[in-house]
Amino acid sequence: EAIEKGGYEHFMLKEINEQPRSIADCMRGRLDAKNGRLVLGGLRDYMNKFQNADRIIITACGTSWHAGLVAEYLFEEFARIPVEVEYASEFRYRNPVISEKDFVIAISQSGETADTLAAIELAKSKGATIFGVCNVVGSSIPRATHAGSYTHAGPEIGVASTKAFTAQISVLTMMALKLGYQRGTLSETRYMHLLNELATIPSKVERALKLDSKVKAIAAEYKDSRNFLYLGRGYNFPVALEGALKLKEISYIHAEGYPAAEMKHGPIALIDQEMPVVFIATKDSSYEKVVSNIQEVKARKGKIIAVVTEGDTTVRGLADHVIEIPETEEAFVPLIAVVPLQQLSYHIAVMRGCNVDQPRNLAKSVTVE
Ligand code: G6P
Repeated sequence: EAIEKGGYEHFMLKEINEQPRSIADCMRGRLDAKNGRLVLGGLRDYMNKFQNADRIIITACGTSWHAGLVAEYLFEEFARIPVEVEYASEFRYRNPVISEKDFVIAISQSGETADTLAAIELAKSKGATIFGVCNVVGSSIPRATHAGSYTHAGPEIGVASTKAFTAQISVLTMMALKLGYQRGTLSETRYMHLLNELATIPSKVERALKLDSKVKAIAAEYKDSRNFLYLGRGYNFPVALEGALKLKEISYIHAEGYPAAEMKHGPIALIDQEMPVVFIATKDSSYEKVVSNIQEVKARKGKIIAVVTEGDTTVRGLADHVIEIPETEEAFVPLIAVVPLQQLSYHIAVMRGCNVDQPRNLAKSVTVE
């Protein structure tokens, strides 16, 4: 086992640190940014269906569902097709309206999640096309779908998903870009620009990983907190959900992720000097709005930990701690912003003496209802 951990204390830490490579592996042979080429073999026979779909339905559980939420923003922005993101466990029992014009994407690291499999079977029986985004080759979900793309993140052992999440988003990003280009909703120049930026993500994630000691110091300060709030808007809303999920899964601290603007409809009542609030406040289209949400938390004496774009000075002046990540296109920020949140939950859990790789009551793959 020590050999498998490759010198790291835990699988989760190894997997967090593998992300520059796993994202690159996921894009290898698919993305050729210089020549403007993007090839997803699994999509080839289904591109027509995908392009002409009335609607995209994404179904998944847990962290994979969060990747699906990021994809909702990606598909709607780049390809202008309406998207619904469904918890597989709800979808399967809701008698959902599904037709042959729907393109269903099922996301699963393990490829074995019972609820996701059942959701696939249901959608299939209604005539929809089902596309799988899975990590484990030859698992049940890829066998149940019409087509799919593997994430190629390599085996993920830690129960809390890390590198599978960023690989899922990488595949979904490539799908959205391809779709947008084919549908003509993305111009050639914009498409080329985005492909080139996407190719820089592994090295930017590498840079983000260097924040580890800074994040560890923040973890030491807040490890005894009883609650955490994670807030973000737009593409960073799912990142907030994922940050909160990581923390609760492995450290057993209660954490909630929320869209930052929804804070005023409830969570704001919880804020006092005991409440750490993690903001994902990168320079994007909702930045100014997030800054005012930060001010609202500050006015109530909440402790502010902010993930910001490198060089940001505004938030630095407001927050108790800032974590600066490399700048990228707004749509690609989740791939980088989630990294310090993974590190934060990891360090807090280790400091609290928790079993990081095998948290109590959780399973890596949930093959029963
Ligand atoms: C379990 C795991 C999570 C995972 C979820 C969905 O709850 O602990 O890490 O996100 O199942 O699993 P899947 O394999 O379908 O992505």
